Amino acid sequence: MRIRVSHLKDRKQRHEKFAVLTAYDATMARLFERAGVDVLLVGDSVATAVLGYDTTLPVTLDVMIHHTAAVVRGTERALVIADMPFLTYQVTASEAVRNAGRLLKDAGAAAVKVEGGSSVIDVVRRLVDVGIPVMGHLGVTPQSVNQQSGYRQRGGNPRDAEIIFNDALALQDAGAFAVVLESIPPDLAVRVTAALEVPTIGIGAGPDCDGQVLVSSDLLGLHDRVPPFATKYVDLSEIIVNAARAFVEDVRAGSRARAHRDH
Ligand code: KIV
Repeated sequence: MRIRVSHLKDRKQRHEKFAVLTAYDATMARLFERAGVDVLLVGDSVATAVLGYDTTLPVTLDVMIHHTAAVVRGTERALVIADMPFLTYQVTASEAVRNAGRLLKDAGAAAVKVEGGSSVIDVVRRLVDVGIPVMGHLGVTPQSVNQQSGYRQRGGNPRDAEIIFNDALALQDAGAFAVVLESIPPDLAVRVTAALEVPTIGIGAGPDCDGQVLVSSDLLGLHDRVPPFATKYVDLSEIIVNAARAFVEDVRAGSRARAHRDH
């Protein structure tokens, strides 16, 4: 049985922390599920993690549908949440409903994630009203990279901290089933987590959120640069380069090579 959004609130009530990873394709999704990851986020980080863009802004709805459908095909149990790309939910609430609807109907996501606070509250309410579960995302919101002047921590001064705190309450009030807190001071994450009935999911927000999310390419060490708060659990880039190099050497060495012998 698939994990449902309501299960995350149950976990918060039972003080059971949960792990969330981003996934962008069926193969990785299957492996992450096998490892016991319960929630997979098809993040618009697909742009930077997989597609070679500098920011998440160029990702389209069709790209998100393509990757989300693959992740859904690769899983049986995991709750699959899809990011709504930049400008697919900010223009009008009816456009947001239509676009979020495609992530559920065409791709099979169980829920969507939107970035931002007061500016998206009406949209969140409308999506929830029509039966689309929504996860919020506060703190550093990468779709606002041009406005936030980069990815520096947010909520470090009392005024910003209050805005994030109130936005989190407003998201919950609008019906969001969880809120991602990205790059905010740990003590603010503690306050928000204690104030909300729905779970918080931290990334660079200290250890005390109800869940933690990591971008899978950071976990796997696929890129040279990893954000300071992310933990590289393995250096797969090294392993991949060595495997490919061994193959190249085998091929160049001719018929004795493993590349030929094994087939
Ligand atoms: O797109 C993404 O991967 C995200 C996570 C960083 C939460 O939004």
